[in-house]
Amino acid sequence: MSKNRKIIIAGNWKMNKSIAEAEELTRNITMELGETSEVDVVVCPTFTALKSVGDIITNTTVKLGAQNMHWEAEGAYTGEISASMLRDLYCHYVILGHSERRTYFGETDEIVNNKVKAAIAANLKPIVCVGESLEQRESDQTKDVIKGQIEKSLAGLGENLDKVIIAYEPIWAIGTGLTASPEQAQDVHAYIRSILEEMGGTDIAQSIRIQYGGSMKPANAEELLSQPDIDGGLIGGAALDASSFAGIVNAGIQK
Ligand code: 13P
Repeated sequence: MSKNRKIIIAGNWKMNKSIAEAEELTRNITMELGETSEVDVVVCPTFTALKSVGDIITNTTVKLGAQNMHWEAEGAYTGEISASMLRDLYCHYVILGHSERRTYFGETDEIVNNKVKAAIAANLKPIVCVGESLEQRESDQTKDVIKGQIEKSLAGLGENLDKVIIAYEPIWAIGTGLTASPEQAQDVHAYIRSILEEMGGTDIAQSIRIQYGGSMKPANAEELLSQPDIDGGLIGGAALDASSFAGIVNAGIQK
């Protein structure tokens, strides 16, 4: 089946960049990209840089995303940020359940599920991350792990299942320079789509975009993005450099 899903390339800047540095990176990205509209482009700076980055991209095709949020609308949750606060800053996307949040901050599939529901209710598009560790891959548990993460993180969405974007990020490929081969990634992406089909039917499963993340760079992007079930990239390290990030976006346009 041919892909009629629009490629989406998102930069996850993680805990990097001062406001001034984030502004400079954003200006450079918008200069490199021009009026790109063949591919959806998203930048996800830290909370502290969202306003400044958002101001720079207002009149461009680049959209703003956050890296996390809380599931409650407001209240006594010291240090947290709600979905409506992100909408206030003109965020369109939010990354949820990144492996770093699962590993270092104890985020479970149930927490991710609460966040996904709150994001959708606030009209934010959730980018829901799943992925196996090296140990899980080596002991042949990849598909069981992915199935559990997808089913639990996306439980109870009903018709809203089509509002999510999924990012498959094998933990062993994040920040390591080790990329999943196009075949390894495609295999898991197709499997994710089959689970989505069980959950929401064919039409919804075919419409959901599944990004790959883990050491994606200009040199490997085109081959990854050419796979039938890879619909974009969630980029860490290479998103911190405007020409690398633009190179990946251009690979998405070429493929
Ligand atoms: P790297 O591109 O640095 O491997 O990071 C991937 C990632 O975690 C994006 O969310």
